[in-house]
Amino acid sequence: MAGHGTRLLPATKSQPKEMLPVARKPIVQYVVEELVANGIGEILFITGRKKSSIENHFDSDPELVSTLNSADKEDLLKELEFESLGAHLYYTRQRTQRGLGDAILCGESFAGEDPFVVALGDSILGLHAQSACVARMVEMYEARRASCVIAVEEVPKEQTSHYGIVAVSNGEGGSFRVTNLVEKPKPKDAPSNLAIAGRYVFSPNIFDMIRGVKPDRRGEIQLTDAIQRLCEEGRRVLACKLPDTDRRYDIGNFPSYFETFVEFALADPQYGPAFRASIERMLGKA
Ligand code: G1P
Repeated sequence: MAGHGTRLLPATKSQPKEMLPVARKPIVQYVVEELVANGIGEILFITGRKKSSIENHFDSDPELVSTLNSADKEDLLKELEFESLGAHLYYTRQRTQRGLGDAILCGESFAGEDPFVVALGDSILGLHAQSACVARMVEMYEARRASCVIAVEEVPKEQTSHYGIVAVSNGEGGSFRVTNLVEKPKPKDAPSNLAIAGRYVFSPNIFDMIRGVKPDRRGEIQLTDAIQRLCEEGRRVLACKLPDTDRRYDIGNFPSYFETFVEFALADPQYGPAFRASIERMLGKA
């Protein structure tokens, strides 16, 4: 997705936040691996100026492969297997930064008449992206003939102004009917503490809803407002609550980026144990 990444400056001065590393891989690689593991085979990246390194990352690099081959570095070669993930990757650009809703419109002809998934590139679901949430959302979408399914997570009430917040009616097994949505409300105006968690399944009628949304005071077309219009039309909008084992790692700001990096590095099968010992030493615990 396009966006200036100003919350992560200077790290994002000349590279997109989606390319920042979390332990061994750039964030965007986790997102792609998660989607592929959840059965998504055609992925359109909606990027923007200064984001061409994303495309380069997923391109094949025959020179690097032959260097690693002749140096007998099979372990490193394995690390590059994502280059042949088996998914088809496409790229387009949002030419002006007019918000998330407007970015989604750039995918209209790609989606055609089919339902599609939206995944925000600054969120990883599950440790090392081991989340099956998107597959569950697609199942819910089909089984309940929904117009939209949104992943949600509980956030502390004082943080509601960072997220889209949904109001739900009673549900069971982690699935709810959404009755109202507000983008980044103050805690006192928030209808709940359930935040939109960066994964959505949509029917193509969302595009008409987006076209009917007025820009907010920053000139941005909010996707949340388009989903609110679906609710107003009486369409079935569902929320799928992330299980505790599947938490969302938000890379959009430094505190949670630091935390995510450390948690993923600690879980690294090769370097994790030694890293844990270093951290304990730094904390004066060893
Ligand atoms: C976007 C959405 C918001 C959602 C959030 C999750 O906001 O507009 O509804 O809760 O992503 O990361 P952004 O973080 O792009 O401002």
